[in-house]
Amino acid sequence: MFTPITSAVVHKQPESEVLFDTHPEISLDFARIKEKLLHGYDKPFLIIDSHIIRQKTRRFMAALPRVRPHYAVKANPDRRVLKTLMEEGAGFEIASIAELDLLLELGVPVKEIFYSNPMKSRAYLEYAATKGVEWYVLDSVEELRKIVSVKSDAKMYLRIDTPNIGSDWPLAGKFGTHLADINAIIEEAAKIKADLAGVTFHVGSQCRNPQNWRVGIERALRVFADMREMGLNPRLLNIGGGYPVRHLKPIPAIEIIADVINEAIAELSDEIQIIAEPGRYLVSDSAYFVCQVVGTAIRNGNRWMYWDAGMFGGMIEVTEGLTYEILTDRTGNCVPWSIAGPTCDSVDILMHDVMLPADIQEGDLIYIPNTGAYTTAYASNFNGFPLPDVDVI
Ligand SMILES: Cc1ncc(COP(=O)(O)O)c(C=O)c1O
Repeated sequence: MFTPITSAVVHKQPESEVLFDTHPEISLDFARIKEKLLHGYDKPFLIIDSHIIRQKTRRFMAALPRVRPHYAVKANPDRRVLKTLMEEGAGFEIASIAELDLLLELGVPVKEIFYSNPMKSRAYLEYAATKGVEWYVLDSVEELRKIVSVKSDAKMYLRIDTPNIGSDWPLAGKFGTHLADINAIIEEAAKIKADLAGVTFHVGSQCRNPQNWRVGIERALRVFADMREMGLNPRLLNIGGGYPVRHLKPIPAIEIIADVINEAIAELSDEIQIIAEPGRYLVSDSAYFVCQVVGTAIRNGNRWMYWDAGMFGGMIEVTEGLTYEILTDRTGNCVPWSIAGPTCDSVDILMHDVMLPADIQEGDLIYIPNTGAYTTAYASNFNGFPLPDVDVI
């Protein structure tokens, strides 16, 4: 049976920063995890409360009434999660045709699906076009020509570069047309009479700086003006993902981000369709990730603990500095630990100097709240370790 849970918080925030965090507490009720564990533990699992996904979707829609959320399937492609979001009236954003098939199997109308991966293989494009996908992103002249050669009437949106300042998981660099290259793409679209009809950007995932959205929207509206000048007809503004969730660092509430966005889009005519692509925000708070300590060791005076799920088992986001709250049943004094996963790969080290109870032992369970996004979606069974289970309540 369980002793009351103790929270081993890794980093304490200064008082003033905590005030910035107006995100109301919302997390899966820990009693549900205890209930599940009454049946024993055999491997890592994610337990998801679909009611929380519903609440988060409604809250997002209430804060941004002009903006339709198109859930980023990559955050958590579990069918039950997707079905819940569909029932709540969300559209979807995909990165691959496997994600497209998943949505079509669930009965999502193809018009609701936007293909937002800026680099698509010709084979994937052909498949998506055959299935009736209408909207495709691009960020280069080459991708524009490729899309048009597959589907001459495709509606397309241009992904532009935007600041990722203050985002815990930056996404700038790999994608996003630089300001200097935008005109060449617009000119080519006008020349070949392609329907380049929108602009998008991504402020970086877990973005704690609302001003990134303001800058992105301002840039997008300038691109709209350039498009019009070249005879194009821009009619889609896609403000991407990035809306943050509570872990250890303070975050602005969605309503605070919405104030910035709503002001920036206030003058836009109703003819412009406005969408967003939230992933993390809609699903993260709904879940707990549970794993187990497989062993501990003292190495050169430092304490190490090894979990049965590491960076290959669902915890990869910590490797870019995302800090989770880590809970255990132990109540001992907190001391610094290094934490690693169970595989033989030396990159499978999650964190160093995490303050956790000194009496943690082999067999102890580890509970990590707000982990519905980018955990099981990333997991592989490298080295033969099993994929985590996903339970939806
Ligand atoms: C194109 C695109 N849209 C939306 C998202 C979702 O971002 P987030 O989960 O931070 O909201 C991502 C995440 O990588 C993305 O690549």
